[in-house]
Amino acid sequence: MNYEPTLEFARRLDEADPLRALRQRFALPRGGRGEPFVYLCGHSLGLMPLAARELVLEELTDWAQLGVLGHEHARRPWIPYHENLRDGLAQLTGARPAEVVAMSSLTVNLHLLLAAFYRPSGTRRRILIEAGAFSSDRHAVASQIAWRGLDPQEALVELAPAAGADTIPQETIEAYLEEHGAEVALVLWPGVQYRTGQAFDLAGIARAAHRAGCVAGFDLAHSIGNMPLALHDIDADFAVWCSYKYLNAGPGAVGGCFIHERHDRPHLAGWWGHEAATRFEMRPEFHAAAGAAGWQISNPPILSAAPLIASLALFEQAGLQRLRQKSVALTGYLEHLLDRLAPDVELLTPRAVDSRGCQLSVRIKGPNGRGQRVFDALTTLDVIGDWREPDTIRLAPVPLYNTFSDAFHGAQALAQALRLEP
Ligand SMILES: Cc1ncc(COP(=O)(O)O)c(C=O)c1O
Repeated sequence: MNYEPTLEFARRLDEADPLRALRQRFALPRGGRGEPFVYLCGHSLGLMPLAARELVLEELTDWAQLGVLGHEHARRPWIPYHENLRDGLAQLTGARPAEVVAMSSLTVNLHLLLAAFYRPSGTRRRILIEAGAFSSDRHAVASQIAWRGLDPQEALVELAPAAGADTIPQETIEAYLEEHGAEVALVLWPGVQYRTGQAFDLAGIARAAHRAGCVAGFDLAHSIGNMPLALHDIDADFAVWCSYKYLNAGPGAVGGCFIHERHDRPHLAGWWGHEAATRFEMRPEFHAAAGAAGWQISNPPILSAAPLIASLALFEQAGLQRLRQKSVALTGYLEHLLDRLAPDVELLTPRAVDSRGCQLSVRIKGPNGRGQRVFDALTTLDVIGDWREPDTIRLAPVPLYNTFSDAFHGAQALAQALRLEP
């Protein structure tokens, strides 16, 4: 597309946007001037769907009016509450409904799945992750290795970009597995890297992992609701995610996981994973419910799951294909505008649309401390992104609620912040 760096052009794109009405379905936080922020931070915390408030209020009302009877008689009964989320999550992840479940939280789910899928034996003991992985993922993996009496120094392999590069070529991952796969028990890879915004070809990683006899697990924190996913078809073994970023389910919202239907393996258990028909017989033996539902441990957090129902309805209304189309155009427009700020800024995120979602990671060039000052100035201009040490501002125009005008105002404010902090 031929983009023009003017507000008139951005407004024309907004007018032509078939999804533009969805923005009104979200609460838009406002800055000191009373205007909505230019909110480009859905990669960290998505905005609140207005319907989330009603849904949470309905649960509170049912609790107030029904007490314990709400488990069966709430308007959405609490016992099978996860079923309200199943189809929407399956759509977003490209899974069969029985392969996904909303439960617990991201890192806890990662532990639960590693407990079942990481089976070091003989010389096949390693877990392969990316260098610079999100700290919680690394802590989970290192502690799982140590938990089994192995040494993370030896068994945790972190694949780094080449010297001077920010991103890891897909071939590097596949080549590593080709060469050393026999020593790798499990690959844990992000769908989108949180710091750089690089998206990976998960099908290629799953194929390479399986060719080498390894388990392929994915952390989709920055992918779900952002990128097209096809977990079933690519034969992923497992995946985990959170719902507070692109899924707009609110701070600390219920997480989720995918377990491919071909896996029926022992796993850590709790009463909510027991088959529903006999769960309340409270027998000592555990009979797992079919599919991912059998991996549940505890009864679902209704108040942190209700907003996700509201958000999934908006995804359904928008249609994943239309969302992705808008996302590519919107992020492309922001990229175009940010490129005009070179050499003060440099994009870390890949240029190829298949190698990124909507997040753009922008390196602020210049002396030490400039990036942080520019970021602070940007915030005072009511543009909300976030800061990652040592030099990066992350900005994500989210197709559900951001506009082309947001991209324009965000880039214009960054230009101003750069002038304020030379
Ligand atoms: C990639 C990744 N992994 C793990 C986490 C931690 O998530 P939680 O605190 O929900 O376990 C996050 C949170 O942002 C994340 O982005």
